[in-house]
Amino acid sequence: MRLLVTGGAGFIGANFVHQTVAQRPDVTITVLDSLTYAGNRASLDPVADKIDFVHGDIADMDLVDELISGVDTVVHFAAESHNDNSLNDPWPFVQTNVVGTFSLLQAVRRYDVRYHHISTDEVYGDLELDDPERFSESTPYNPSSPYSATKASSDLLVRAWTRSFGVRATLSNCSNNYGPYQHVEKFIPRQITNLIDGVRPRLYGEGRNVRDWIHVDDHNSAVWAIIEKGRIGQTYLIGADGEQNNKAVVGMILEAFGRPADDYDAVTDRAGHDLRYAIDSSLLRDELGWTPSYRDFRSGLEATVQWYRDNEAWWRPQKATTEKNYAAQGEATL
Ligand code: NAD
Ligand code: DAU
Repeated sequence: MRLLVTGGAGFIGANFVHQTVAQRPDVTITVLDSLTYAGNRASLDPVADKIDFVHGDIADMDLVDELISGVDTVVHFAAESHNDNSLNDPWPFVQTNVVGTFSLLQAVRRYDVRYHHISTDEVYGDLELDDPERFSESTPYNPSSPYSATKASSDLLVRAWTRSFGVRATLSNCSNNYGPYQHVEKFIPRQITNLIDGVRPRLYGEGRNVRDWIHVDDHNSAVWAIIEKGRIGQTYLIGADGEQNNKAVVGMILEAFGRPADDYDAVTDRAGHDLRYAIDSSLLRDELGWTPSYRDFRSGLEATVQWYRDNEAWWRPQKATTEKNYAAQGEATL
């Protein structure tokens, strides 16, 4: 298989490339990534001699046409991915997530190339804390933030291109990922690297918000199950039954550093902050036989803490700028 991976220098994409190189020697990989602030060439260092890397933009239609004419399958991870940034400056989210996806869809349509679209559970909006229902493939779209609205828009483009033009596409909407190579702007790496620097974790509001955590390797094994066995036109929700509220996660990270679970700062809450995400992944499990390997969140989190301790050279260059951006966006201790 000749595979084009967009966004392969980002968190999930880089882990996907590592997993694919390790487990599927028959797959030839080209990564297309524009190396935004969130992309890091160093994340691909362990596999650099096993892949082709193209530095370019998914919205560059000529480049995308040329690359897609030479592959069988596209997995599309590239995106602007951070909610807080989308509140501060939404335009790059529209450009990359909507226009960039359009560019890819036109090319896969032209060359009849199999396409898998990576998306998020945030397209469904949020749930009440006590809602017995979880998100499923039939939950109506109701995105809250500019980020999730652009991801929802891109999903709808994929569905339309599948129905109207016969594009051979599948979609997946996954919950919150954790693991190695995640940018220090995101919740878990931010708190780990703060603690390595002797700074208290920063919890938005009261920390009641619930996220449904999944290890990035489990997300990526599910993506492979869908590429190989998924039904064309079908959406699959990916989740590993990992609901935790933010306060509990901060408490576990603090414990990994031998600090009391309440040794954090409450800071300004996110505007429009989604309360709870929760995934029902029955379709993926029952139809494709997928199951997650990481079943104990605490031990997966401890391994992630250790990865950031061991790989300071990877994250250090981004840390000061990231914290400066949060301060510039008005984050303050409550
Ligand atoms: P990330 O921000 O870590 O990486 C995004 C990558 O895309 C970076 O390497 C960046 O350089 C690249 N990129 C951005 N704009 C580009 C453009 N115009 N052209 C080419 N490359 C570009 O993101 P992530 O957390 O790895 O997320 C990957 C995908 O998974 C996204 O589509 C996101 O919506 C989705 N997703 C993420 C999560 C999560 O918890 N992180 C959960 C569900 C779904
Ligand atoms: O649900 C999937 C989504 O998960 C993906 O689509 C997004 O790309 C990914 O960024 C993630 O979105 P969240 O907004 O849930 O992730 P984030 O890491 O930004 O925040 C997780 C939770 O932690 C959220 O409730 C906000 C809170 N938070 C975040 C930061 C950065 C804090 O309390 N303190 C922080 O410093």
